[in-house]
Amino acid sequence: MALGLCACGPQARPITPEQSAALVPAEARLAALYETSCKTCHTIKASGAPLSGDAAAWAPRLKQGMPTLVGHTVQGFKAMPAGGQCAGCTAADYEALIHFMSGAK
Ligand code: HEC
Repeated sequence: MALGLCACGPQARPITPEQSAALVPAEARLAALYETSCKTCHTIKASGAPLSGDAAAWAPRLKQGMPTLVGHTVQGFKAMPAGGQCAGCTAADYEALIHFMSGAK
């Protein structure tokens, strides 16, 4: 394979909005929170949000570190409203939701 031109890694395969929308957090409470908040933007490409399950889109954001990502969610960030439209989310919920959407371990 020629120098760095292989588009065959899992990160190089973009997730479709349909695949993104089919993802559901394993934990029931988290799934309920997700359904009415993050999911309404993070599975819709036109929203400008990194799609749930799109590892390539999340990778540069994860580099900021989890505390910064949780802080951006709580305070709002660019087109994302403060709290990500989740009135019932705790800081721990935000962290778990970001883990779920980004695929971060
Ligand atoms: C109204 C739409 C909307 C909702 C609801 C929403 N987001 Fe977002 N989110 C966005 C957009 C748009 C961006 C990209 C902002 C940018 O970088 O321009 C984003 C980016 C993010 C980022 C990356 C921030 C960074 O520093 O790069 C995180 C983390 C995030 N959202 C978490 C969440 C979580 C968790 C929820 C649910 C509790 C949520 N979002 C709900 C629209 C939304």
